[in-house]
Amino acid sequence: MNWGVIDRYAKSLIKEAGHKIRMSFFNPIHIDSKANANDLVTNIDREIERFFIGRIKKDFPDHKIIGEEGFGDRVETLEGVTWILDPIDGTMNFVHQKRNFAISLGIYVDGVGMLGYIYDVIHDDLYHAKKDEGAYFNDERLPKLEKTLLSDAVIGINASWVAPNRHVDHEKVVELIRECRGTRSYGSAAMELAYVSTGRLDAYISMRLSPWDIAGGAVIASEVGAISTNLKGERLRFLEQDTFIVARPGLHDHILSNYIRLKERDV
Ligand code: IPD
Ligand code: CA
Ligand code: CA
Repeated sequence: MNWGVIDRYAKSLIKEAGHKIRMSFFNPIHIDSKANANDLVTNIDREIERFFIGRIKKDFPDHKIIGEEGFGDRVETLEGVTWILDPIDGTMNFVHQKRNFAISLGIYVDGVGMLGYIYDVIHDDLYHAKKDEGAYFNDERLPKLEKTLLSDAVIGINASWVAPNRHVDHEKVVELIRECRGTRSYGSAAMELAYVSTGRLDAYISMRLSPWDIAGGAVIASEVGAISTNLKGERLRFLEQDTFIVARPGLHDHILSNYIRLKERDV
């Protein structure tokens, strides 16, 4: 497999898709909801996913594609090459703010992340990585992350996990947010992974993410030495929803051991 060729191909597809998204602002957007009233999807999420799938199927007919909007393949194993795509991560931001959303793409071989991309469409910023060859913010190589203390750490977390919820003992999460330096919530898991990878955040935690939210970012994070697992400390799986944490080395263990108590259904 020529990964240089696939890398260049993926980057040009992403840039073309980003242009389409920016152009979409000149026309009315159709908004629907999915699992619940706040789970939004637009005609643009669907069009962009179809754009990627049409191209990839034509140019790499033996590759599989998992896409959030369901136009890809019904994938049961990660054997072979699998593209894992979220055409717009942060759809609520896309609809309400027209910023703070990203295209997220990971390309996996037999379950191992080879290429990862997060494209901040509005800023034209591409975070990208190739396995064992380092991670980049546009053309700038990202340095390896160093350890930090919780008291100096800024943590990405959604406020829902600090309120009583079905997944985790929220009182321990309250302790975590009291003991860290500050918290942020950007509304796009992919962007939050990009921010951990660039050191703008020190950790990001979620109780429920899907493979397409994290497949691109996991490759980038791993190249800078960030640790990403589920909240049981197990390696990521890319065929189902799960809990999630990505953090600087050291901080990852510290948070999991002292502040995360999963409830019965997630243990
Ligand atoms: C969502 C965003 C959000 C996260 C949700 C995801 P979507 O993705 O990443 O930050 O908290 O769990 O579903 O629906 O905008 O692609
Ligand atoms: Ca998403
Ligand atoms: Ca999405």
